[in-house]
Amino acid sequence: MDTETLVLTDLHLPGGRVADITIRNGIVSHVGSSEPADTKISCSRYLVLPAAVDLHVHMRGGNEQKQKEDWTTGTQSALAGGVTVVVDQPNTIPPLTNAASFHTRLFEAKTNAWCNFAINAGVTADSDISGLWKSGALHFGETFAGPSSYGEAVSQEVLSRALSEIAGLGGLASIHAETVSSGKDSDLFSHHALRCPDGEAEAVRLVHHCNGQHCRLYFCHVSSGTGMDAIRDAIIEVTPHHLLLSLPGREPADTRFLVNPPIRPEYDRKELWKRWNRIDVIASDHAPHTTAEKSGDFSSAPSGIPGVETMVPLLLAYMTDKQIPLSDLVAKTSYNPSRIAGILPAGFKPGNRADFALYPHSRTVVDPDLLHSKAKWTPFEGMEAVFPEVVIRDGKVAYRDGSFCYHAPHWISGRGYIPETRIE
Ligand code: NCD
Repeated sequence: MDTETLVLTDLHLPGGRVADITIRNGIVSHVGSSEPADTKISCSRYLVLPAAVDLHVHMRGGNEQKQKEDWTTGTQSALAGGVTVVVDQPNTIPPLTNAASFHTRLFEAKTNAWCNFAINAGVTADSDISGLWKSGALHFGETFAGPSSYGEAVSQEVLSRALSEIAGLGGLASIHAETVSSGKDSDLFSHHALRCPDGEAEAVRLVHHCNGQHCRLYFCHVSSGTGMDAIRDAIIEVTPHHLLLSLPGREPADTRFLVNPPIRPEYDRKELWKRWNRIDVIASDHAPHTTAEKSGDFSSAPSGIPGVETMVPLLLAYMTDKQIPLSDLVAKTSYNPSRIAGILPAGFKPGNRADFALYPHSRTVVDPDLLHSKAKWTPFEGMEAVFPEVVIRDGKVAYRDGSFCYHAPHWISGRGYIPETRIE
């Protein structure tokens, strides 16, 4: 067993007390006065937050999508943004719909990831749901109740059948809920109109209608008050781009802002903030595409925005300005997602998972050239942010001043997984 001890000294705990925290075997073991340590890090000049768990990332990779992102660049981008656990979505090429493709994905992730990770299973007409569950899929989805880049919408019949089967296993289905009207999708404004808030609400209602067996539901990237108000008894995820970006002032053909659900008018952005207390999870929907793909004609460019590295840094700056308690940020990016992923919460109490990000008290602006994703572009360019200087994962220094120092990723399997069947 690894008995290396890390002590974080002079750490400002929530509530104001200053203490030293001792970490052994990846877990907080003592809070109080300093204990002997292999490594000590002074936190006196940092804001220390529990590291984030991003429940919605598209790590891409494989042979077909590695030009957009791969597990190395995607997870390094996560770490550099204070995220130590990512949950990968299954709209890969080919989609992750059976045990064999799950095991291939798992091998790729284990070999290349720099942070801890889980993998979700894809729901399509031919998905082997029980095979994916037994292989260790964390959740089912995002399941496309409306089409998106690399995600075909499933029919009502397939959705009902899948939700019933997932409910029987005790699993959780995460849903991309959108309705798309027909019409010419020629710029950011028509994109919003064709995938409007009423359509989001309609898709949510349809999913509830298909869920006769009361499968646990998780609605991804809810983008409007109307959409959120249609949700009953389910987990609600919102993204930083829907909380921080809106349409006014955008160049209509700027594909950096092309995403599903769309970036909306300022009204909808404000409606999300009015429902802040209903939001369980903030996740990035990190969905990188190459500059070349985004440079084409608007109507043929893929939708999606990279965001795992900027999620906490942007929200930290924004929420500080608006005087929104940072405990809310920690709840929605770390504590709640940990519970949903079935892992120990990261935090400052003995027994907590020792994953932390150390943020300086100074700001920078988002510069795409300094981000670690393969997508060297971001719609957040020039916005104020606070990036972590040090990130601790499993009680070890994983990232410090731009260098990645600890590889060995841990796979977080879902509850259907029986360890003897594990394929290493
Ligand atoms: C995502 C992608 O590119 O994988 N795109 C997006 O616009 N959000 C798919 C998705 O989550 O819809």
